[in-house]
Amino acid sequence: MTMFKKTLAAAAVSAALLPAQAIQAGEVEVLHWWTAGGEARAAAALKEMMEEQGHTWKDFAVAGGGGEAAMTVLKTRAVSGNPPAAAQIKGLDIREWAKLGFLTSLDDVAEANQWDQLIPPVIADVMQYEDSYVAVPVNVHRVNWLWANPEVLESAGVAVPKTLEEFYAAAEKLEADGVIPLAHGGQPWQDATVFEAVALAVMGPEDFASAFVEHDMDVINSARMEEVFAEFAKVMSYVDDDAAGRDWNTATGMVIRGEAAMQIMGDWAKGEFTAAGLTPGEDYICAPAPGTGGQFTFNVDSFAMFSLSDDDNTKAQKDLARTIMEPEFQTVFNKAKGSIPVRTDMDMSGFDACAQASMDTFKSSADDGGLVPSFAHGLATTSYVQGQIFDVVTNFVNSDNKDPARATDQLAAAIQAAL
Ligand code: BGC
Repeated sequence: MTMFKKTLAAAAVSAALLPAQAIQAGEVEVLHWWTAGGEARAAAALKEMMEEQGHTWKDFAVAGGGGEAAMTVLKTRAVSGNPPAAAQIKGLDIREWAKLGFLTSLDDVAEANQWDQLIPPVIADVMQYEDSYVAVPVNVHRVNWLWANPEVLESAGVAVPKTLEEFYAAAEKLEADGVIPLAHGGQPWQDATVFEAVALAVMGPEDFASAFVEHDMDVINSARMEEVFAEFAKVMSYVDDDAAGRDWNTATGMVIRGEAAMQIMGDWAKGEFTAAGLTPGEDYICAPAPGTGGQFTFNVDSFAMFSLSDDDNTKAQKDLARTIMEPEFQTVFNKAKGSIPVRTDMDMSGFDACAQASMDTFKSSADDGGLVPSFAHGLATTSYVQGQIFDVVTNFVNSDNKDPARATDQLAAAIQAAL
């Protein structure tokens, strides 16, 4: 054998010995808005699992709770012909992006890994465009939660409120005890998150869906909706005067430190308690938002996958999609993030009590009609309608003269205009 042939043969042998992924390593650029403590730990788990497979992770994090800033940046990048491989896009927006021709099919990954059997149909539907998977779900967040500091409640002599009436009574006592009853950040998506919880408590799941999913004008423009705004105003009156612009995790920090007693927020807030090393039931309390026990407002994070031209990067992108649905990722990620796995076949015994309660309510509410999509987090309606609701709700919060009847009229007109 000539020297040249020997070298070639040696190269072939060592190539055969290399793991397949090392040969086909690519880069995944991933756009997300997970920059708070718990969120960042969760995102790091995904990065690590991609790097273990030999791929390069290019982090495209755009800070800003709720993701509005991230979506603005994504549009700019996509329009200039340079989208990332994967972007955290949710709900009906996934279809909008697919319709514009930006997304790629994940059907080969979905078929090989039996996604149809693993993902609840109501969620699988959101991930598809024209019967093809174009996005992969990461988790299920429950939005209608109340987070509370047990020591603060105890010192004011109040129990965890189960109804809005109990919430007001508790808030009065907490205020008298010198503590802020409700931690909140004055940003439109946070205002909408609290408004959504109050709407569910006042209207119940059926009317909630009629108003915010089907946009039935008789339900939107109703005395019931005026009641929602009236109760919402009362809830918001227990927020301190410095809330304007405050980030949601800063508000969670106020509960952790005992400066405030409670926060109404989705279970990404649990990621903050977990990152601070705290234990549910001992150091903090998770309970359904007042008046919404047994009901579940769902918010599903997902990554939509953009069409790429480079083969190695496409391989990395498909590995990302596959990895996200694997039990190992679903466990590690969701423990850090505060959410529950999107797969219905997961063993929940290693999860904390809040996650176990969340999974139980997710399943029971799916059976009894108490499961509703979150409009504050993009699962119920288009981003156009969502934007209109945010404007009306935030204007109401910031107005000195809160008039529920006027706000109801404005909400009806705003939703109508966006349909
Ligand atoms: C997302 C969560 C995120 C939260 C705060 C929600 O809309 O679904 O993943 O943690 O916003 O940024």
